Amino acid sequence: MKAEQNELITRVGPGTPCGDLLRRYWQPVALVDEFNPALDPRVAQRPVKAVRLFGQDLVLFRNEAGQWGLLDRDCPHRGADLSFGRHEPDGLRCPFHGWKFAIDGACLETPAEPTGSRLCDRVRQRSYPVVERCGTLFAWMGPEDGTPPPFPAFDCFVAPASHTFAFKGLWFANWLQCFEVGIDPAHPSFLHRFLQDEPLEAIGQNAAGKQFRSASAGAVNGQQWPMTRIMREFAQPEISFEKQPFGVQITALRPMTPELTHVRVTNAIFPATFVIPLSETMTITQMHVPVDDTHTYWYSFFTSFGSPLDREAMRAQRQQFISLPDYIPKSGRHNRWGFNPEEQRSQTYLGMGEEDINVHDQWAVESMGPIQDRTREHLGTSDKIIMANRRSLLQAIEAVQAGGVAPGAADPALSGGMTGPDTVDGVAPAGEWPTWWREQARIKREHAPWLVPGIAEPATP
Ligand code: FES
Ligand SMILES: [Fe+2]
Repeated sequence: MKAEQNELITRVGPGTPCGDLLRRYWQPVALVDEFNPALDPRVAQRPVKAVRLFGQDLVLFRNEAGQWGLLDRDCPHRGADLSFGRHEPDGLRCPFHGWKFAIDGACLETPAEPTGSRLCDRVRQRSYPVVERCGTLFAWMGPEDGTPPPFPAFDCFVAPASHTFAFKGLWFANWLQCFEVGIDPAHPSFLHRFLQDEPLEAIGQNAAGKQFRSASAGAVNGQQWPMTRIMREFAQPEISFEKQPFGVQITALRPMTPELTHVRVTNAIFPATFVIPLSETMTITQMHVPVDDTHTYWYSFFTSFGSPLDREAMRAQRQQFISLPDYIPKSGRHNRWGFNPEEQRSQTYLGMGEEDINVHDQWAVESMGPIQDRTREHLGTSDKIIMANRRSLLQAIEAVQAGGVAPGAADPALSGGMTGPDTVDGVAPAGEWPTWWREQARIKREHAPWLVPGIAEPATP
């Protein structure tokens, strides 16, 4: 890849072509938990947070009526930082000269101006629409005169609170390399490899980092195998993809015996979300939102198609590995991501712990450097999805620059009708895997207590 192209697909600040594209999609801006006084006592009296997205400084707050506002952070008077504002029932007041703003950016008062002044009527702070889904606040930062697309009805956004859990973490790297790890079907065979297996009974639904410890659906000689064993023993997946309205559906096949094939179906929702199976009844939908060119928050939405989730336990498990209030991982470049050469020799392929496999991906993402130099890489057959995604990204950037509609979930004609998408990780009869996995997906939906049959049929290309 040429250096100019790498710049084009990684830079997201105001006015950049890629930033223009990404701003057309609903993007996560904070967890509702960040406004939970039990987790952060500072927000009890003052639900106001400084946030940064796409290299823009913003302030997020809730008014007395419980409505959310997201405004540019620089006060339109003389530019002081509104995240230090006085929180009032109907808005946020700049402490410099007392100008007050409502959640929609309307100026409510300019108290230092002479009585009768109309200055306030002429001032409006840029505001961005905010909606709450799956315990998360989403913002739309598209063109000021534009209309946000309908919010897509993906599983994680329609499942009830009892069956979902949202968490996030900060990675010190560009958004695209964060996403490119998640859509790479070859890496679990290596990066997340455990050299020994644990008994399947030892893996609870809430086992935080033990993603590939869970059982793959289906049986080998009457026995269930953990995903990690299959990944380890069959490390050359046959990767293919199928275009979908939301992006692509990815299939990785691992032929095991003449009779059995392991099939893993995951999804890349354009531009920066993947949906993968965590276990037979749980999926993870993970979005990657740029803070700026070299920092990215991942947001994970866990969705159960079986029993309700123990959200408190899931939060407690994950909180061990990050520092609040900014969800910064305790492992990172500063401590070499906890690398232990002895563990690498005897227990895991990577040597960065077994409890939180998120660190594995974090290392892959961050060790490339803040913005991966794609002029120096050598892509192979197993990087097919990475290449296809970059092509789609370049096309979408071009389309938006030419005045066209951004694809997938930013397209108002398509986004409202988006549902699913389905995933599977299982051992299928070799010749019948295409029908077998659809059947598995159907059964999973039929048993989901919160899904009305028929509302989330697999999308057709
Ligand atoms: S800078 Fe905010 S009121 Fe003057
Ligand atoms: Fe991974």
